[in-house]
Amino acid sequence: MKTKLTHPVFAIVSACADEMNVKAFVIGGWVRDLLLGRPCKDIDIVAIGSGIELAERVAKKLGDKYHVNTFKNFGTAQIAYEDYDIEFVGARKESYRAESRKPSVENGTLEDDQNRRDFTINALAISLNAASYGELLDPFNGVKDMEAKIIRTPLDPDITYSDDPLRMMRAIRFATQLNYTIDAASIESISKNKERIRIISKERITAELNKIILAKQPSIGFKILFDTGLLHFIFPEMVALYGVEVRNGKSHKDNFYHTLEVLDNICRTTDDLWLRWAAILHDIAKPPTKRFEPDHGWTFHGHEDKGARMVPKIFAELKLPLNEKMKYVQKLVLLHLRPIVLAKSEVSDSAVRRLLFEAGDDIDDLMKLCEADITSKNEYKVQKYLKNFELVRQKLKDIEEKDRVRNWQPPISGEDIMKAFGIPAGREVGILKNAIREAILDGIIQNDFEEAFRFLVKEGEKLGLKIKE
Ligand code: CTP
Repeated sequence: MKTKLTHPVFAIVSACADEMNVKAFVIGGWVRDLLLGRPCKDIDIVAIGSGIELAERVAKKLGDKYHVNTFKNFGTAQIAYEDYDIEFVGARKESYRAESRKPSVENGTLEDDQNRRDFTINALAISLNAASYGELLDPFNGVKDMEAKIIRTPLDPDITYSDDPLRMMRAIRFATQLNYTIDAASIESISKNKERIRIISKERITAELNKIILAKQPSIGFKILFDTGLLHFIFPEMVALYGVEVRNGKSHKDNFYHTLEVLDNICRTTDDLWLRWAAILHDIAKPPTKRFEPDHGWTFHGHEDKGARMVPKIFAELKLPLNEKMKYVQKLVLLHLRPIVLAKSEVSDSAVRRLLFEAGDDIDDLMKLCEADITSKNEYKVQKYLKNFELVRQKLKDIEEKDRVRNWQPPISGEDIMKAFGIPAGREVGILKNAIREAILDGIIQNDFEEAFRFLVKEGEKLGLKIKE
């Protein structure tokens, strides 16, 4: 391990700890990521003694421009060093009260500190004192679990998870990010303790959920969330997608597993969290719009519209931002069926223009979502749909080149209309502005000022308005 401790701060911590005659270790996520070969910007140092005093000495040695932020209540201290966040803490022995996740903290040994950690792979420590510099302390066989790709708690999982129920989410998040399995005893314990997730703030739950969503294959995490019953507490609308109903021998697809396939598909083409959220939510209103029509079988009419309307409530519930990111997700959910219709050969230019106008710059993301939405098991059908979408992309390209309606503003503004007729802002301006936009989108007039102006004069006449000389 010695050769791996190349970061300059380790030599300094080592010298300071020896001067103070305390033991110091680098512990937790940094050690885990070192062994996994993942980069890590958070370095946690644990001292068998005062973490704050050690931090102060280290900062002094680092030089004048470094200072220590101390959090006396928690007995922790932090130094920002370049883009690293270095935290110092005294080793602790913690006991939690059942009704809260705020621990009462006592000083402890390294073993006590390792015991209270969430997973064996997160309980690894490396000694920093000169005499044992680089020695790995792995009391729970974390390295072995890493090799076997297993998430396991150091203690009885019931203790670890009820001490801090967020760890149930963390277990699933690590399993998803690392593609590990969660130890059977842990799975059983999560299923048993799932209700305790309620004491965790929504922000922290969603932070973990977003990490699952940003993994390479988020379906791994969602399946475990569902199977353990955690998803029922944190995101019930998604659970409602689960299941297949059969009537008169007709069934519909399981929209939960379909959504997960779409999500995994989109992850192959984007790292963007919000496009991934759009995939999660694209069919979210299928359960509330589901009908059985004897002649047609199962229908989900209007699920795109209702789904878009459900987005703000779901975002609010999950404490996701209620800003332009939400509007973007809403827009993609609303439009997700539109490109399919455009694949038909007889489709008019105006339908293509309208979609370009409505989707604006998000048209490429919308096309990605539609392609990810193809989850047929029939390879022939998949190829056929993909070809159709190629056609749609071509049509979109042709129309955009010709008419430039993406991010388009009509050639005549409300201001222009008020000036032309000498009228104040009001209902009539709105009507005329709309009429011009619609006429251009429908291809009745060209997208240019002259033609739009002639059209405006005629439309104005219908309202009894005359051009001011
Ligand atoms: N830890 C814990 N229980 C928690 C959170 C953290 O036991 N609920 C411990 C683990 O030993 C963990 C360390 O604190 O390795 C640091 O936690 P944190 O910085 O939150 O996460 P990391 O494990 O480093 O992972 P990531 O950076 O991916 O969030």
